[in-house]
Amino acid sequence: MDRREGPGRLGRVVITRQEVATRVTDLGLAIRRDYAGRFPLFVGVLKGALVFAADLFRAAALPSSLDFMGVSSYGGDARPSGIVRLTADLSMSIEGRDVIIVEDIIDTGRTIAYLRRNLATRHPRSLAFCVLLDKVARREVEVTVDYVGFAIPDEFVVGYGLDHDGYYRNLRDVAVLDPSASA
Ligand code: IMP
Ligand code: MG
Repeated sequence: MDRREGPGRLGRVVITRQEVATRVTDLGLAIRRDYAGRFPLFVGVLKGALVFAADLFRAAALPSSLDFMGVSSYGGDARPSGIVRLTADLSMSIEGRDVIIVEDIIDTGRTIAYLRRNLATRHPRSLAFCVLLDKVARREVEVTVDYVGFAIPDEFVVGYGLDHDGYYRNLRDVAVLDPSASA
C-alpha cells in the first residue's frame, strides 16, 4: 500500500461517542465502588487503550496512578500475527499494588493472556482487566476479564483509540472500515 494514500474509507458507526461516554462513566463508577479505600494503579495498553485509559482513569476518580505499557500483535495488517511482543515496559514496580489493566479490545485473547502471564510474575497484590470491546466470536485463548464495555460482532473497528494502519485513533465514535474500500 502507498502510505501517502492515507487512511481507508470509514463504514457505519457501531458505537456512538455518547454511548461510549455513558458506558465509560458506568465502568468508572463500578471500579470506584470496587476499589473504595484502595489506591489502584491503572495500566493502559498502548497504543489502542490510550484514549480509553485516560477517560476511565478520570471516571473512576480514585486516588490512583496511571502507567502504560506497549504490546504489539499486529504487523501493520488487520489480522493479528499470533505473536505478542512487549514494545514498552512499565515505568514503575507493580509489586504489592492493586493493578487494573486497561485494554481496548479482546480479539483472539492472546494479548490478555500474555499480559496476565507477564504481570503475574511481578507479584501485584491484585490484577484486574478492563476492556472496552469484546469480540466474543473470535476467541482462540480462554481469558476472563473483570469489566467489559461492549460485546461486538466480528468486524474490524476503529476509533476511540483503535486504529487501522495507524489511522483513526482520534475518531470519537467507534466505526467499521468500509469493506468495499479495503485493499
Ligand atoms: P488479541 O490478542 O487477538 O486479543 O488482540 C488484541 C489486540 O488486537 C488489541 O489490543 C487491538 O490492538 C488489536 N485489535 C483486535 N481487533 C481489532 C479491531 O477490530 N480494530 C483494531 N484493533 C484490533
Ligand atoms: Mg491493543
